Amino acid sequence: MDVSKKRRTLLKVIVLGDSGVGKTSLMNQYVYNKFNQQYKATIGADFVTKELQIDDKLVTLQIWDTAGQERFQSLGSAFYRGADCCAIVFDVNILRSFETLNNWREEFLKQADPSDPESFPFIVIGNKIDIDGGNSRMVSEKKARDWCASKGNIPYFETSAKEDYNVDEAFLCVAKTALASE
Ligand code: GTP
Ligand code: MG
Repeated sequence: MDVSKKRRTLLKVIVLGDSGVGKTSLMNQYVYNKFNQQYKATIGADFVTKELQIDDKLVTLQIWDTAGQERFQSLGSAFYRGADCCAIVFDVNILRSFETLNNWREEFLKQADPSDPESFPFIVIGNKIDIDGGNSRMVSEKKARDWCASKGNIPYFETSAKEDYNVDEAFLCVAKTALASE
């Protein structure tokens, strides 16, 4: 069968996390295979799309990149509603960005108000594992995995947007999880 004639499924994914952890960089690496060393704060929110095939289904992943900086956050709850998955990113070298994971998770659940909050699909991404060959890490992989396990077995990925390490894998999991929850 001609796959182009099949209906595409639109999956809405929201990416959250502290400012500077690499949300925009992960998206740019995943969608455009580009990495920019220079930091440019995201203002408000913007989305990019990527088409992919999961088993025999064609899906359009609509990835919403959001502002980590509080003064640039201007998103109402209408924005979060209808999300199929939420990816929360932290920087493995900055403890504080890990400690805020739960705030992001709770704020998302409050705003998105999903019918079954207990089973809403999240994914956690520990980014920037390339820095200093891992010697400046403040959050170990075990610590991150333990936290994810304690919140209902949230899938966890360690990535480097800079080196394009594990980025495709993380977003494929996002897509699969979103599709399963759809
Ligand atoms: P806000 O838009 O303010 O919320 O920040 P953000 O989470 O989108 O962070 P952004 O992607 O803009 O990255 C912040 C800085 O970290 C930039 O200078 C990036 O080049 C850098 N960066 C992002 N990912 C990585 C990574 O995996 N490794 C390294 N070494 N640097 C990274
Ligand atoms: Mg950004």
